[in-house]
Amino acid sequence: MSKGERANFGSKLGVILASAGSAVGLGNIWRFPYETGNHGGAAFILIYLLCVLILGMPIMISEFIIGRHSRANTARAYEVLAPKTQWKWVGFMGVLAGFLILSYYSVVAGWTLEYVIEAGADGFAKKGPEDFINAFQSFSQDPFRPVLWLVLFLLMTHFIIVKGVKNGIEKSSKIMMPLLLVIIFVLVGCSLSLPGAEKGLEFLLKPDFSKVDSNVFLGALGQAFFSLSLGMGCLCTYASYFSKETNLGKTALSVGVLDTVIAILAGLIIFPAAFSVGIKPDAGPSLIFITLPNVFQQAFSGAPVLAYIFSLMFYILLAVAALTSTISMHEVVTAYLHEEFKISRNKAAGLVTGGCIFLGIFASLSLGIAKDYTAFSLGIFDLLDFVTAKIMLPLGGLLIAIFTGWYLDKKVVWEEISNGGKLKVRYFKLFIFILKYIAPVAISLIFVNELGLI
Ligand code: TRP
Repeated sequence: MSKGERANFGSKLGVILASAGSAVGLGNIWRFPYETGNHGGAAFILIYLLCVLILGMPIMISEFIIGRHSRANTARAYEVLAPKTQWKWVGFMGVLAGFLILSYYSVVAGWTLEYVIEAGADGFAKKGPEDFINAFQSFSQDPFRPVLWLVLFLLMTHFIIVKGVKNGIEKSSKIMMPLLLVIIFVLVGCSLSLPGAEKGLEFLLKPDFSKVDSNVFLGALGQAFFSLSLGMGCLCTYASYFSKETNLGKTALSVGVLDTVIAILAGLIIFPAAFSVGIKPDAGPSLIFITLPNVFQQAFSGAPVLAYIFSLMFYILLAVAALTSTISMHEVVTAYLHEEFKISRNKAAGLVTGGCIFLGIFASLSLGIAKDYTAFSLGIFDLLDFVTAKIMLPLGGLLIAIFTGWYLDKKVVWEEISNGGKLKVRYFKLFIFILKYIAPVAISLIFVNELGLI
């Protein structure tokens, strides 16, 4: 496609919702709580918030600038803005990261479908905490069922991707995001009303700094990037479909606030419930799948109909939130293959879907029958998560900050951020300062610290 023919998002709200749809997903509701649980609670959240505010926001704006100015897929974007330099590798790494994340993310997204069906068949009724733990374990280790759901989920993503940007991505986000927010609020109320919920609140709100080590910093940084969809050119690709009128700073702020609020609310649902039924907060990736069904059963023990309706709605919305995120990752890789290798969009999408199904199957099996195949003592699923969230995304973010802060012509940066001088941007100097100095130093320190060099 030539420059002029590139698709656009239809409206301002559509832009925000599509970007927020990318950001809000399993990262908020599944990954944030278990990372918080693994890293000791409130202190992790504080560091996470700092990462979002100081590093996430400026880097998100940078991705917007790079994407909208180049109007190209993320690999080509660097070719356009920095021809004949090595910067193109940042784009390639992003495309690769997108592919890898999509592969294991779809495994968990597939689980949500199993839970939709289970909720729909009223399978949670009259079960206790132990039952949910056992049920999840036998399901996630099963060699067939999770794989089936994974394939189905990727096919759904594929279908929306081939329908194109405006009809597929934008429309689905517009309806589902507000609905998700409403039901999350209801669930917070339910969870807080459970007996013994205070202990969970304390875990979330009272920082214990004795638990803070280098791991916590890298964990928080990785989670911030993962949750905001940063560091791999995802929002950069979306920004290439933004119009000239989109206010980049405001859009970043809206997306950042919405994403963070939903993550914190997810914590407010999970931890009071987990403490209430005696599930340890460091249960890992299974955390939401064993605590949540409990919340519904216990909070509505007097009204099974409500338990039924809310659990069914919740899992449907969770699946949809995951879908708007898988779409955004798929789009990065599809746009790249389609535009760079001159193959049709459908064919490009087919290759991505096929590749992710292939890798996803191994990721899924690595939680069950193939769990003894490990590298660095991690199975494929955990390895994919570690390599992407804790290495590729922070590294991508670091390079994006350096690119915008040091390499890119300040005139271009100013033109994009102020929409050609139309907007007042009081934070411009601060923005550049963060990109030039704070972000590179902070991210490098966190890396070096993790490697144990200081
Ligand atoms: N942010 C999404 C979530 O929280 C996942 C996601 C979508 C993502 N696109 C991404 C993560 C790009 C990293 C990079 O579920």
